[in-house]
Amino acid sequence: MSRNLRSSLAYQTSRRKLVGGAASAAAAASMLRFGPAVMAQTPESAGEDQLEIFSWWTTAGEAAGLDELFKAFSVENPDVEIVNAAVAGGAGTNAQVALQARLSANQPPDSWQSHPGAELKARYVDPGFCDPITDLYEEQGWNDTIPQGVIDQITFDDDKYLIPVGVHRGNVMFYNKQVLADNGIEEPTDDWTIDDYFTIAGTLGEAGIAAYALGSKDTFAVVQLFENILLGALGPDDYVSIWKGDIGWDDERVTTAIETLAKFFDNVNSDHAALTWDGAADQIYEGTAVFQSMGDWFYGDAIAKEKQDVIGWVNHPSTGGSFVAVIDGFTLPKGAPHPVNARNWLITCGSAEAQAAFAPFKGAIPARSDADSSTFNEYMQWSAGAFGEDAVVPSLAHGSAASPQFQTSVNEAIITFIVDLDVATFQDALVFAAEDEA
Ligand code: GAL
Repeated sequence: MSRNLRSSLAYQTSRRKLVGGAASAAAAASMLRFGPAVMAQTPESAGEDQLEIFSWWTTAGEAAGLDELFKAFSVENPDVEIVNAAVAGGAGTNAQVALQARLSANQPPDSWQSHPGAELKARYVDPGFCDPITDLYEEQGWNDTIPQGVIDQITFDDDKYLIPVGVHRGNVMFYNKQVLADNGIEEPTDDWTIDDYFTIAGTLGEAGIAAYALGSKDTFAVVQLFENILLGALGPDDYVSIWKGDIGWDDERVTTAIETLAKFFDNVNSDHAALTWDGAADQIYEGTAVFQSMGDWFYGDAIAKEKQDVIGWVNHPSTGGSFVAVIDGFTLPKGAPHPVNARNWLITCGSAEAQAAFAPFKGAIPARSDADSSTFNEYMQWSAGAFGEDAVVPSLAHGSAASPQFQTSVNEAIITFIVDLDVATFQDALVFAAEDEA
């Protein structure tokens, strides 16, 4: 693995105004050349001195990635104070609630994080909280550098509403390499199956080791495990069909997927209800638990904690050839408090330089298709290769596959399921949620 990221992490910056939240460093403008900003207005001319950015990037790798974006912005806008309004909570569960309250009160930040697809449309575009950025796409040449499949997910009524900054793979299984070796277990390869997983989990269980490191305090972590199991059970075509309503949630393969989810709880860390996804990741680094099915922000977490040599990765079992895309981007609010800075922030987010700086810290690959993949680390090369070749499918846990209402129903049902592991009740909840959608 290319471990030259350590030296990047050690890179210390010298100055940047930054207040609030999780990020902390300052920019060394002289050392960086970020941001095209050719069409940018100067904030000074507009009398703007702040930029407030809202996200849920507060864990180690997330904050480090966000800070790279802040540094890139500051190179072109050195006198603008960045207010980091991040709200903690995996998958944005808490942040989205807090943001809705602000938007309803007509107090938007200057930009906020969103996933493309259903989340962007239902939460922000349809209620009229966003201004289109179609003109920025033309100005900045993004129509030629952002993949069309992604543009399709951020375009509504011919207008574009989000600039994607990074692409994550959601169906990755991370694991502790040494614990597998110590127990005579070969590292899995991308063609492994869900049965292979349970064979390994059984061996680990006999040795008294938790096979799976769950952080179910983050409900999304269980939803994501479920959707990855579901993808394995259905295959990519039918997985896409079920989100379109073309396959019923009463399908027997859904039953199998729920039974499989329950089986994961046979050998899981006993303290999962008290942990978030990154807290559970620590158990993998420490070797007290072995596997976690997660998006590749896990890799960013490992980088930030200097544990990248401890972990291996492989696609979630039985999902080889599929890529669950979890795409992050930023929006332009209607009535941004600092509209010039807000547009300049989006210009930064869409720039090749900022995306290249962000990706290795966040564990993502750049959203731009013209990114120089020869500079990617081994993990990013693996993820980028899969993104280019695999069937790209959406995520429920991360807002793209179904409406926020459906997502909330599943979140609530899975909270109950974690406690009672009642397969029929959970499947009924899915069927009801889909009926509510219709
Ligand atoms: C996702 C988001 C990722 C990562 C993850 C865990 O929704 O797209 O960037 O932050 O949540 O919080």
